[in-house]
Amino acid sequence: MNRVPLELAPLGLGCWAFGGGFWYDQERQDSIKTIHAAIRSGIRHFDTAQGYGKGTSEQITGQQLRRFSHTVPRDSFTLATKLFLPSKSDELESLVRRSLQRLCTPYIDILYIHWPDSSKPLAPYLNELDRIRKKGLFRMLGVSNFTEALLVQAIKTTEIAYCQMPVSLVWMKSLRTLGPLCNENQIKIVGYSPLALGLLSARYRTMDDFKIEDLRRKLFPFQQPYHHDYLLLLDRLIEVAKRYGTSAALVALHWARRQPVETILTGARTKEQLYSVLKSDELFIDNDSLSSIEDAADILEKQIPEEEDNLFFHRW
Ligand SMILES: NC(=O)c1ccc[n+]([C@@H]2O[C@H](COP(=O)([O-])OP(=O)(O)OC[C@H]3O[C@@H](n4cnc5c(N)ncnc54)[C@H](OP(=O)(O)O)[C@@H]3O)[C@@H](O)[C@H]2O)c1
Repeated sequence: MNRVPLELAPLGLGCWAFGGGFWYDQERQDSIKTIHAAIRSGIRHFDTAQGYGKGTSEQITGQQLRRFSHTVPRDSFTLATKLFLPSKSDELESLVRRSLQRLCTPYIDILYIHWPDSSKPLAPYLNELDRIRKKGLFRMLGVSNFTEALLVQAIKTTEIAYCQMPVSLVWMKSLRTLGPLCNENQIKIVGYSPLALGLLSARYRTMDDFKIEDLRRKLFPFQQPYHHDYLLLLDRLIEVAKRYGTSAALVALHWARRQPVETILTGARTKEQLYSVLKSDELFIDNDSLSSIEDAADILEKQIPEEEDNLFFHRW
C-alpha cells in the first residue's frame, strides 16, 4: 500500500444530484437543505457543472450560497464549475458568462473542461480560456476526465491548476496514472465519486437493487466479468466496517480521503447523508485493514481493459 497521509483530505460538496436528470428522483428541497447543512458544517468547496441538469445545479448552488453571503463571504469558499467544449472556441466566453449568472457570482474559482473531446483540437480552446481567465471571469483552469497524454498536451499550452478524476475503490486507475504527473506539475487533484456513485454503500449488490429508471444499474461493476469481484470488494468493506462499528460507505469514503488528493467531493444528496459522511472525520482505519480492502479493489481493477480510461466507460 503506497500511502502515507494520516490526515484526511477535506470534503467538498458535489452538486451533480441537485440538477436532477441522471439523479431522477432528487427533490429540490433536499438539495437546498443539503447545501445549507454543508455550509453550516464548514464545507467550503462546492463543485457543480453546466451539464448538471442544464444549469439547474449551478442555479440552486449559486442561489443558496448567495443566501449565506452575510456570514460566508464570497472569498471564503471555492466555487467550481465545468463546461463542455462548444463547436467553436469563440463561444466559450458567453458560456462562462452564463455560468456566472446562474452561480450569482462575479467570478468562478475553478473552471474545468468537463470531458475531453476527440473531435476538437485542444490548444485553441485552452488559449481562449486563458484569455477569459485574464479578464477575471475565473481564477484557475482545471481539467476533468483527461488522460495522461491529454494532460501532458494541456500543460504544454497553458497553466492547469486542478485535475478532477474519480477516486474510489472501484476506480483507482486515474489516480495511479495521473497522480505522478499532477505532482510533478503542482496540479491539485480533486477526487470525485468516492462511493462510486453510491455503489460502495454496499446497498446495491446487483443491478436489480436499483429502480428501473436508475441509470447506475448500467455501471460496469454490474456487468461481467466484473460483478463477482465487485461483490468481493463489497464483502471486504462490510467486514472492515463491522470491525469498526461503522458502515461500508464510511469505510470507502475514509479510503478515498486517505489518498494524496487536495479535496474529495462527496455526493450526499440529503442532509442526513451529509451528516453521515461528515462522521468520516472521526474514523481512523488501520493500514492493514485498508490494505486488505485495496487488495480486493486491485483484483477488480485487473479485470478492466487497459483502453477503458474512465469510470463510465464513456467514449469521448
Ligand atoms: N468530473 C466529472 O465528470 C464528475 C463525475 C462524477 C461526479 N463528479 C463530482 O463529484 C461529486 C460526487 O460524485 P458522486 O455523486 O458520484 O459521489 P459519491 O459520494 O460517490 O456518491 C453519491 C451517492 O452515494 C449515496 N450516498 C451518499 N451519502 C451516503 C451515505 N452517507 N451512506 C450511503 N450512501 C450514501 C447517494 O446515493 P443513493 O442514496 O441514491 O444511493 C449519493 O447520490 C458530484 O456531485 C460531482 O460534483 C464529477
